[in-house]
Amino acid sequence: MKKIQDFRVKEYRWLNETGYLLTLYSDLKIEPVLPGNFAEIQVPGTPEVFLRRPISVFDADYENRSITFYIKVAGKGTKKLGELNQGTIVNIIYPLGNSFTVNGSKNVLVVGGGSGIAPFVLLADELKKKNIKTTFLFGARTKKEIVLTREFGRLGKVWVTTEDGSLGEQGLVTQHTVFKDILTFDKIYSCGSDPMMKAVAKIAGENRIDCEVSLENMMACGIGACLCCVTETTSGNKCVCTDGPVFNSKELAWQI
Ligand SMILES: Cc1cc2nc3c(=O)[nH]c(=O)nc-3n(C[C@H](O)[C@H](O)[C@H](O)COP(=O)(O)OP(=O)(O)OC[C@H]3O[C@@H](n4cnc5c(N)ncnc54)[C@H](O)[C@@H]3O)c2cc1C
Ligand code: FES
Repeated sequence: MKKIQDFRVKEYRWLNETGYLLTLYSDLKIEPVLPGNFAEIQVPGTPEVFLRRPISVFDADYENRSITFYIKVAGKGTKKLGELNQGTIVNIIYPLGNSFTVNGSKNVLVVGGGSGIAPFVLLADELKKKNIKTTFLFGARTKKEIVLTREFGRLGKVWVTTEDGSLGEQGLVTQHTVFKDILTFDKIYSCGSDPMMKAVAKIAGENRIDCEVSLENMMACGIGACLCCVTETTSGNKCVCTDGPVFNSKELAWQI
């Protein structure tokens, strides 16, 4: 159930100059969160950052009433969220949006770039529970931007591409050699930049592999009220915040 809840800053773990894990805790119980759900986070003490910021839930620890976000600094809001003192109150609305579907697959490929890796720990936990083999493929411009490979490595095989060749194979994610064996996968999940997801969806479509993507459109309300996040689908315009963020790639009216 959607809830507006006060949390407090528990701890930070900085992963590089611009990426960090922020863990918040609450005195109250945590609502169940599904893989792909996000939260609208109010940025405390920054009146100029008026709107809440949509951030995927990276992990949730129900026993310890804590919730973790992987955040990449993009502007004022995400910078400020990385500078709060321990114990600062952070108000969030969560869990929002739909979730990835996990059923019937045997061998899945998870493709992520940038902050798009954030929803994949919860997803991979779910896949593991169902004995579904998971391979991760993460892309970035350079080595420093590749993070959390050890954490993901506990949940599946991790492959990496960097555009400058400083880690893994050189090039874009869709140029990775894993795509030579694409027909061994029966499902693809992707989250990251639109061009990356479109390229992944194209390969999935050409090979008739079911593919789900999680869109990161600009959002204001996060609850279907302002219509600023609308995306065109084969069945008309849909709100990414309430009908998504996860869509089957076949549903999206993408020019690919
Ligand atoms: C459903 C959803 C889940 C998301 N999950 C995560 C996550 O787990 N971790 C994470 O780091 N980020 C995530 N994002 C992106 C994050 O919401 C934006 O980076 C953030 O709102 C930027 O706020 P800001 O105040 O720091 O920057 P702003 O000053 O608002 O913007 C800085 C720059 O980022 C661009 N920007 C703003 N919002 C977005 C957006 N939604 N997508 C792409 N570019 C944007 C602006 O155009 C501008 O160029 C998610 C977005 C959505 C919609
Ligand atoms: S963000 Fe307001 S309707 Fe989606």
